[in-house]
Amino acid sequence: MGDVALLLAGGTVVDAGGTRRADVAVAPDGTIAAVGPDLAPEPGALVLDATGCTVAPGLVDLHTHLREPGGEEAETVESGTRAAALGGYTAVVAMPNTVPAVDSAAVVRQVQELGAGALCDVFPAGTITVGRAGTRLSPIAEMASLGVRLFTDDGTGVADSRLMRRALEYASSLGVTLAQHCEDPALSAGTHMHEGEWSGRLGIPGQPAAAEELMVARDIALSRLTGAPVHLLHLSTAGSVDLVRRAKAEGVAVTAEAAPHHFTLTDEACAGYDPVFKVHPPLRTAVDVAAVKAGLADGTIDAIATDHAPHPVEAKEAAFDQAPPGMLGLETALGLALAELDLSVERVLALLSWQPAAIAGIEAHGGPVAVGRPANLCVIDPAATWTVDPAALASRSRNTPYAGRTLTGRARHTILRGEPVVIDAKATR
Ligand code: DOR
Repeated sequence: MGDVALLLAGGTVVDAGGTRRADVAVAPDGTIAAVGPDLAPEPGALVLDATGCTVAPGLVDLHTHLREPGGEEAETVESGTRAAALGGYTAVVAMPNTVPAVDSAAVVRQVQELGAGALCDVFPAGTITVGRAGTRLSPIAEMASLGVRLFTDDGTGVADSRLMRRALEYASSLGVTLAQHCEDPALSAGTHMHEGEWSGRLGIPGQPAAAEELMVARDIALSRLTGAPVHLLHLSTAGSVDLVRRAKAEGVAVTAEAAPHHFTLTDEACAGYDPVFKVHPPLRTAVDVAAVKAGLADGTIDAIATDHAPHPVEAKEAAFDQAPPGMLGLETALGLALAELDLSVERVLALLSWQPAAIAGIEAHGGPVAVGRPANLCVIDPAATWTVDPAALASRSRNTPYAGRTLTGRARHTILRGEPVVIDAKATR
């Protein structure tokens, strides 16, 4: 084999540095060997067509529930990373609300080992508190020494403000970031959807937007107090977006993400009592959806994160108030972002790739597409039209709220350290 093992030919390269017509050649060692127009294919190199496509750094998900250990019925690292690669992701941050929770070096190592050799890179997040119980700090330094950069009790927020303050001080001394699931437990206990017109009509107990906004406001105040960065997970309300916008204008070290379901669906979707639409934070109103979109457009929200939350079919077939919250997201996020946000491909990729990579401190992903960099790439066909079929998803679970929806825009090829793990929207192994 020569100096080039793989050539992505005929595409338009998009990264944080801009947009240009260029082929990308990948060396046998998995790094980018050349970027430029009309690179000659070397004998023996695999040539993948990228005509009419965008060649970008692979997508990076800040918020994936891979469920392993403990939830293998819903997802495994193998099935979840397969879904991720098909969705255009080369890296995911694995949420720590597993069983046991990722609150020790031993469980971090377990997830790292499960992720080695997977179809995309897996970066475990650790918990902020032991067992996500909200009372004692986890061994954050020990987990940080294994490379963990993001800590969160996701699924619940850290309700104790004093403990959260201490956690922020500790985390910033270690150079790691805390991420918060913003939900005031006293206001959300016993609720199953957003509190508003629809919860009233359906007779389902709802949680007010204030349940989220109180913790958003508190964490902004704690970030201001400590100087420590805080990342706010899955923002869903207009009030939250407004709070973050003002905090950023003031220079508070806050970053934020939003999930595709919070810019594509409203609480009205719960009208049929179908638990596939049950999620935390809940689907909100059209006003909130518009605010999340505006936040993504003006830079208030830094990242689109899936909150990919698989649940077994039986669990999601329970009554609305019994079913667990959560929806699949990895295989549909890119198509939804391209189809539903009125943003350029460049802006969508900033939100899906290099901005989340920066928040998670993941250096090998998110670009730039440049010589010597690891070839973690995705080739996106912006014109590909496809219909979401739950049975055809790679996830072990089926709980997508987008069944039957036709999307335009799809990952065509995904390249992990030079290896084409997805070719023409099919996994290669
Ligand atoms: O809907 C959700 N599901 N929200 C969360 O915060 C947790 C997640 C899960 O783990 O199922």
